[in-house]
Amino acid sequence: MEDLMQKIVSFSKRRGFIFPSSEIYGGFGSCYDFGPLGVELKKNIKKAWWDEMIKKQNDIVGLDASILMNPRVWKASGHLSAGFADELVECKKCHHRFRKDFVNSPAGEKCPDCGGAFTKAKKFNLMMKTSVGPVEDDASIAYLRPETCQGIYVNFKNIMQSMRLKVPFGIAQIGKAFRNEINPKDFIFRTREFEQMEMQWFCEHQKADKFFEYWLKQRLNWYYKLGINKKNLRIYEVPKKELAHYAKRAVDIEYKFPFGWKEIEGIHNRGDWDLSNHAKNSGEDLKYEGYFPHVIETSVGVDRSLFVFLTEAYQEIKGGRSGKTNTEIFLEINRILAPVKVAVLPLVKNKPEIVKKAKEIYRSLKTEFVTLYDQTGSIGRRYRRLDEIGCIFAVTVDFDTLKDNAVTIRDRDTMKQKRIKIKELSQFLNQELK
Ligand code: GAP
Repeated sequence: MEDLMQKIVSFSKRRGFIFPSSEIYGGFGSCYDFGPLGVELKKNIKKAWWDEMIKKQNDIVGLDASILMNPRVWKASGHLSAGFADELVECKKCHHRFRKDFVNSPAGEKCPDCGGAFTKAKKFNLMMKTSVGPVEDDASIAYLRPETCQGIYVNFKNIMQSMRLKVPFGIAQIGKAFRNEINPKDFIFRTREFEQMEMQWFCEHQKADKFFEYWLKQRLNWYYKLGINKKNLRIYEVPKKELAHYAKRAVDIEYKFPFGWKEIEGIHNRGDWDLSNHAKNSGEDLKYEGYFPHVIETSVGVDRSLFVFLTEAYQEIKGGRSGKTNTEIFLEINRILAPVKVAVLPLVKNKPEIVKKAKEIYRSLKTEFVTLYDQTGSIGRRYRRLDEIGCIFAVTVDFDTLKDNAVTIRDRDTMKQKRIKIKELSQFLNQELK
């Protein structure tokens, strides 16, 4: 399975999904850049989530809060206290640092890198510090948000009033978050800079349990709809003693990654922890009809879910899809998420009329769909390259096109080809890809 992980990492780089950040300088602290296909996939995941939360569900509105916030927010939220700290141990010999719970051996045993002994565990706060304004002193310290949801709580009143909302309602947000993780690892699974898609559902205390079940089910269905096999997802009820400082109940949605079952999304009952603490610390009245609404939160990482969708879709097919070639990679990704929807291929590159026609079609389709133009190699080779990135349709312009104004269109999933008039292409694709 670790082998699969290596394959996905190199595939992601080779096909323009994910590159190590600042690679020409040797990379940087487990940061990653999303290349041309990665950024399309990421955009599609975010859109699928936004459509699900804002369009399909009722009574949820959106927000885009700033990353830097008044530092008092983090005092009220509990992030400045021990609650948002990991325990860190350092090897006395090689000085490598580890998250205590990541070192397999019990405390007091040896460093996995050099066999040295560990120091005693100490608390390490995960928030990233920066300085705001021209003078760097204690008063200028600010933090990069470690989760997006605090922007939602501090805007609770603004949103409720401006949109004239009544409880229950939800606020959804997608944005960057930063954590100074001690052991970022497993490619884009755990990084220091990542994006979250979070929704906070405000409801009456008595209804919180019912809504928890509702949201858990909705969120699981979202993965199923987008092509994740049920056998690769499971839920994990977080034991009471492991709950985060704010949580009354937490269920992790876990995916079977190449390195084992791991969390992709958390569903949390946060009680009235956030609103009551922000009310106390800010002096603002954040009650609704005299009480603090309780919060059910759904929280998933964009990058982590992208890793899930890539892993799920990645296949190596011995003998190729035709059964007659070498092993081929096939990215069988859901149509909504596929980063490239259409490719336009001139049958030959040395016939100017065919190339001209193909470029014309490419230029027209790319205004509507993410489209690739590819004229190198045999058609079979080009199909294989397109299957590798999960491109859904391939449009081939051939000699007949010049006479009948029609093209051959190949469907990725069925591999069937049919002839279609150029003027009907856009309508056909819109219908198929909606
Ligand atoms: N507001 C609640 C919250 O942030 P969390 O369990 O700490 O809860 C929620 O994070 C989700 O955010 C995780 O399930 C994961 O998908 C993503 N996430 C958290 N830390 C991450 C990291 N260091 N790198 C990538 N994704 C991360």
